[in-house]
Amino acid sequence: MPVRQLPEDLINRIAAGEVVERPASVVKELVENAIDAGANRIIVTTAGGGRTLIRVEDDGIGMDRADLELSVERHATSKLADDGLDDIRTLGFRGEALASIGAVAHLSVSSRPADATSGLRVEVNRSRKSGIVPQAMNRGTIVEVKDLFAGVPARLKFLKSDRAEAAAVADVIKRLAMANPQVHFVLDGADRSPTNWPGDGELASRVMQVMGADFAENAVPLATTRHGVVVSGLAGLPTYSRANSLSQFYFVNGRSVRDKVLLGAVRAAYADFVFRDRFPAIALFVSVDPAAVDVNVHPAKTELRFRDAGGVRSAVIRAVLDALAAAGFRASSTVAEDVLGAFRAPEMDGAGAAPMYTAAPSTGFAGPPPPLHGGGYVQSTGFAGLAEPSARFEAYEAEGSYPLGTARAQMFENFIVAQNGDSLVLIDQHAAHERLVYEKFKAQLASGPVASQMQLIPVVIEMPEEDCGRLEEAAPTLEKLGLYVERFGPRAVAVRETPALLGQADVDGLVKDLADGLAEWDSTEALGDRLDTIIARMACHGSVRSGRVLRIDEMNALLREMERTPHSGQCIHGRPTYVELKKADLERMFGRTR
Ligand SMILES: Nc1ncnc2c1ncn2[C@@H]1O[C@H](COP(=O)(O)OP(=O)(O)OP(=O)(O)O)[C@@H](O)[C@H]1O
Ligand SMILES: [Mg+2]
Repeated sequence: MPVRQLPEDLINRIAAGEVVERPASVVKELVENAIDAGANRIIVTTAGGGRTLIRVEDDGIGMDRADLELSVERHATSKLADDGLDDIRTLGFRGEALASIGAVAHLSVSSRPADATSGLRVEVNRSRKSGIVPQAMNRGTIVEVKDLFAGVPARLKFLKSDRAEAAAVADVIKRLAMANPQVHFVLDGADRSPTNWPGDGELASRVMQVMGADFAENAVPLATTRHGVVVSGLAGLPTYSRANSLSQFYFVNGRSVRDKVLLGAVRAAYADFVFRDRFPAIALFVSVDPAAVDVNVHPAKTELRFRDAGGVRSAVIRAVLDALAAAGFRASSTVAEDVLGAFRAPEMDGAGAAPMYTAAPSTGFAGPPPPLHGGGYVQSTGFAGLAEPSARFEAYEAEGSYPLGTARAQMFENFIVAQNGDSLVLIDQHAAHERLVYEKFKAQLASGPVASQMQLIPVVIEMPEEDCGRLEEAAPTLEKLGLYVERFGPRAVAVRETPALLGQADVDGLVKDLADGLAEWDSTEALGDRLDTIIARMACHGSVRSGRVLRIDEMNALLREMERTPHSGQCIHGRPTYVELKKADLERMFGRTR
C-alpha cells in the first residue's frame, strides 16, 4: 500500500483514542474545563453509565462566539499564553479534549459569558461542526455528549457494564472534588444515586464528603515541607487499610494523578505497618514549583514526571512517617465495628430464627471521638515520661485515665482484658509485644549494634546443611542484631548470644524461623536491606508470646509501654493490637438500650 496522508476525521478519531478511553475520561476532561473556567458549581448528569449521555453544566466564565467556534477545533486552547510548556497552571493545555470528544460522539457546547445577554450553541457530530445558533441559558457553559463511541465499535466493545462505567465516573468526580474543595459538585442521573457536595473550601469537609467520616476519624494530618516539596493531606491509620487502592488519592499541584513515584513512596512509608496486599487509605497533596514537574507526558494528563523524583519521594516518606509516629499507639476505631459485627447473639431454637443482634451501623460510632483517639496523647500529657507505671497505676486507677485502661484479667494466656473509664479494652498481648520489641530493635539499631546476652551454654541446633550455610553467610548481619551464630559441624549451628530484647527467647524456634526466611528471601537483595524483615521475624520470638501467663502488674506495664510507643496500635503484620468497646456498645450488644 502506498503511503497516504490520512483524512482529518480519521486523524481526529485516532487522536481521540488516546484522550477518550471511556465515559469517565470524557467527564474528567469536561469537569477540568469547568474548573479551569473558574466555576463555583459543577453539575454532572449521566445516563447509561455515560454512554448515552454525559452532561456537564458550570457557572464559569463562559465563551463568546469566537472562542466557542474555536474551542471544538483541534489544537485550539486559551490556556497557553506563550509557547512554553514548562509553567502550566491550568488543568488543560493541549487544546484537544473537545475536538477529541467531538470525533467519537455527538457533542454540543453551549456557552454564555458574563457580559452577554444570551448564550450560543455549537454542535459537532463525529467531527462535523454545525453552525452556531442561539441558546437560552444562564451564565456559564453546558456541554452535552451523546452516544459516545456510537461509530467506534472497537471501543464500545471494551466498555464495561453501565454500572461499572457509572462507578468510574463517580471515582473521577471524587478525585476532582478532593482537589477542588471550593467547588460545589453535583453528580446525578438515572444510573446512580445522587451526590451533592457543597464546597466550603475546607479540605477537611471535602474529605468527609468524599471519603466518609470513618476515614476522617481514622486519619492523621500530613504537613511537611522538604526539598521545596510541600506535602499535605491526611494519612489513614495502618489498621484502617483497604483491600484495593480506591481509597488512595494523589494530587500534584491540584491535579489528580497516578504517579509511580508517589505510589512507591507511600508504599515504602507504610511498609512497616501494613501487610503487603493491603492498601492504606490516603489523601496526599503534593505542591512543587510548576517548572519542576512535566505534566505533558500522557495524553490524559494523569501521569507526570518530576524533575527531582528522589526529593519528592523522600519528602512524601518523611511526611507519612511523621504523621504516623504522631498517631502514637492508636488503632483505628473501625476495628471495634468489625468486632461488634462478628458478635451475634446465639440463635433461638426455632430453625432459621434471625440473630437477635446484628452489627450496629457504622454511623453508630461516629459521635465524639472516644478517649483513645485523642491523637496528641503521647506528646501532650505527662504520662509520656512515666518510668514505673506499675508502681503508680493505682493512683490512676480510680480515674480510669489510662487510654488503654487498667488490666483486669488475662484470657487464654494471651488476651488482656482492661477497663478504661467507660470502655472495655481487649489487648492481644502477643501482637502488641511483637510491635514493642520491633520498635525497640529499630531504635537500638539506629544507634549501633543491638545489645546481646550470653547463653549460659551455647545452644546447638541441628538443621539441614543448606540452612546452616545460609545462616553462616548471614552471621555478620545477624551479629549486628545481637544474634551470634556459628557453624557447628556440617549439619548444626551453635548460638552463643541472643538479642537481649528478646528475653528468654525460644532460641531453637528463632533460628529455624530465620533459616526459613533466609531460604525464602530473594537472594539478589543484599541482606543489609532486609534488616527490617529480619527484625520482624525475630520480634515474633520475644518472651511474651501468647501462652505466657502474666501478672496484673506485668500486664499494666505492657499497656503503659504501648501507650508510649509509636505504631503500637498495630502489630508488625498490620493487624490491630487492641480493640476498644464502649460500654454503650456492650449494652447495645445485649439489647439493653430501648
Ligand atoms: N467549560 C468551559 N468554560 C469556558 N471555556 C471552556 C470550557 N470548556 C472549554 N473551554 C474553552 O475551550 C478551549 C478548548 O477546550 P479543550 O478542553 O478542548 O482544550 P484545553 O482545555 O485547552 O486543553 P486540554 O485538551 O488539555 O483539555 C479551552 O482552552 C477553553 O478556552
Ligand atoms: Mg480541557
